[in-house]
Amino acid sequence: MSTGRKPSKNKVKCIKTRMKIKSIKANTELDSRGEWTISIRLKLQNGVEAITSVPQGKSTGSYEAAYVKPQIAIKNIAKIIDPALKGIHAGNQNLIDHAILKLDGTQNKSKLGANATLGVSVAAAKAAAISRDLPLWKHIAHLLGNKQKKTEFPKLFINVINGGLHTKNNLDFQEYLIIPKSKNIAESVKTGLALYKNLGEYLSKNFGKGATGLGDEGGFAPNLKDNLEPFRILSRVAKSSHLQNKIQFGLDAAASNIKKTPAQLTKLYDELKSKFKLHYLEDPFAENDFKNFTKLNKSIGQTTLICGDDLTTTNVKRMEKAHAAKSINCIIIKPNQIGTLTETLAAIEQARAWNWKVVVSHRSGETEDDFIADLAYGSSAYGLKLGAPARGERIAKYNRLLTISQEN
Ligand code: PGA
Ligand code: ZN
Repeated sequence: MSTGRKPSKNKVKCIKTRMKIKSIKANTELDSRGEWTISIRLKLQNGVEAITSVPQGKSTGSYEAAYVKPQIAIKNIAKIIDPALKGIHAGNQNLIDHAILKLDGTQNKSKLGANATLGVSVAAAKAAAISRDLPLWKHIAHLLGNKQKKTEFPKLFINVINGGLHTKNNLDFQEYLIIPKSKNIAESVKTGLALYKNLGEYLSKNFGKGATGLGDEGGFAPNLKDNLEPFRILSRVAKSSHLQNKIQFGLDAAASNIKKTPAQLTKLYDELKSKFKLHYLEDPFAENDFKNFTKLNKSIGQTTLICGDDLTTTNVKRMEKAHAAKSINCIIIKPNQIGTLTETLAAIEQARAWNWKVVVSHRSGETEDDFIADLAYGSSAYGLKLGAPARGERIAKYNRLLTISQEN
């Protein structure tokens, strides 16, 4: 997706000095599940225009910032946000986001809607980056105070088998992930793609063509023998593809939506750990079960990333609780869980200060907007969780990373 119009070189100087917001308009559009979401068009006085659209989760955590219906978000932008933000310099992300927070005035963005606030916040960042003739990731790196020219590419967290709320099969766990080890982005994409394609061949050959239907995040969604079978299959396919040394395995259990006791879950994780050397485990227990997170982190956290998503919801207050209890060593960052770019960056900075690994993530209901690729690269995140290399809304993020590798 294009982030907006780029000015000609001779206009750049004048453009840099006239970066005040002129207008913000929103409209409805469809997400990847065919549900209505919003897109935002933000114009500056210098003629630069930035467009962004907002994703939506399905297995959402209770502590996420609140969305409002698209029509209400659009009205809030037109009646409340646009008049108040007119004239503010788009380069001043902090000022913009604090103005939004003040206009909202609630704990969880329930007045304006986090869909409205995030869309405006990100559109402002895009407009500022275009005006300054910077790639978006570099603008984000500057907002984080990082002036380095190059950062490392995030590892790709590729959801190749879908279960849970993201499809209608019999798997309780939501996401079976492969994580290519390479830090070279083209190499990682190639590895992920090869394994994904070979997995499709394997499923079709062994379970029939119906087994290659896709879930919400582009992974296959077959019915399988039990919740660990996907990893047995993935191990087999990795071996036959000669990729077993190039990838690691991860799981997003999304356990808030699973009807199993912590003891039953722990038994499964022990098996996963010993048989498949699980590298990454997200939301292994329900969103308020800090205690069992802590127990698991203590027992396997030395060698496995224990990651909070619904547990922490990109919210520094929730993160403080997890930190005090030593519940996790890794965190999912989803900008729409908190609702502004400034708060998202604050969560990343806080995670980094505690030495947690940062994994920026898409949502299951995505759009073609590729902002999270820039966010992951610009913030030097450890990982980017972006679904399988299938379906346009996921592919957009892969392609953006590949383009970034040419922008250095
Ligand atoms: P969601 O799923 O976007 O439906 O919340 C993604 C995740 O849980 O990581
Ligand atoms: Zn998750």
